[in-house]
Amino acid sequence: MAAAVPFEQWTAEEKYGHFMRRIENGEKIEADDWMPDDYRKALIRLITMHGISEIMGAFPEKEWVPKAPTLRRKLAIMAKVQDEMGHGQLLLRVAEDLVKPCGKTREDILQDLFAKRLKFHNVFHMPSPTWADAAVIAWLVDGAAILSQTMMLKTSYGPYGRALKRICQEESFHAKHGESLTLSLAEGTPAQRRMLQEAIDRWWEPLLMFFGPKTKEATGHTNVDKNLKYKLRTKTNEELRQEFLSKYVPKIRLLGLAIPDPTLRYDDEKGEWIYREPDWNKFKQIVTGNGPKTDERLRLRRTSYENGRWVREALAQWKAAAV
Ligand SMILES: [Fe+2]
Ligand SMILES: [Fe+2]
Repeated sequence: MAAAVPFEQWTAEEKYGHFMRRIENGEKIEADDWMPDDYRKALIRLITMHGISEIMGAFPEKEWVPKAPTLRRKLAIMAKVQDEMGHGQLLLRVAEDLVKPCGKTREDILQDLFAKRLKFHNVFHMPSPTWADAAVIAWLVDGAAILSQTMMLKTSYGPYGRALKRICQEESFHAKHGESLTLSLAEGTPAQRRMLQEAIDRWWEPLLMFFGPKTKEATGHTNVDKNLKYKLRTKTNEELRQEFLSKYVPKIRLLGLAIPDPTLRYDDEKGEWIYREPDWNKFKQIVTGNGPKTDERLRLRRTSYENGRWVREALAQWKAAAV
């Protein structure tokens, strides 16, 4: 039997069977453990996209740091931007261990981003023209992110789950900050309420898109199935979108704000929200690097990456000298 034979001598099928049993039993896979290439690829895709999205996600709000209306708000949004960059660094550290056996480095991940070979979330390609956009991003985009990140806390890959634990704690502060900004605007002057409504109108479709297309039949996409099979995630895109609608539609309406979808309703019989499908062709365009702010933000990111090169090189030399 395979158990009596050293692991290195097991056949590929035996190794795969053993690996899948570990997943089924809820065991955590660690960076040095044997894993099928398919699992590694799925992890790399998921974690680099998440990490890069955290970094690119700081940009729409960063624009509002110099223009925040009060010192208290400025400190809060600055802390949030800093948190998001930290989440990105934490996740790229996890991704770095995964790409290493493939002969790739963290530098390669960043270069892939600059060359548009890596995707990041659709919402972070969009403009944030008013202070109300900063409010809606922190309240609803972070709210949507919390739903999908909380779902992955029990992910089968140990290092990702541990990074997510810390990230989720900070994300809940972000949502509170967004709630506070939104409430102030909702209770404000008619001009502030109008600004908030316009931001909701702008962000509604990107928010529905955030969870991804409904079915693989619609997109030919099997990544979600793969992530479910390997227990990297536990819910489908549509389950998460329905959760989001159940949580936030009543809250938005409670503030007296309108949702820009006249077809939106909860179907009691089906037990689900009926909504107008976002334009998935537009989604595809955006996530493949053709969003309204993609080029500008990638240019900014590349400039700041190049400006920080001397720090990375100095640290690498110091580390080499210390060994
Ligand atoms: Fe984050
Ligand atoms: Fe956040």
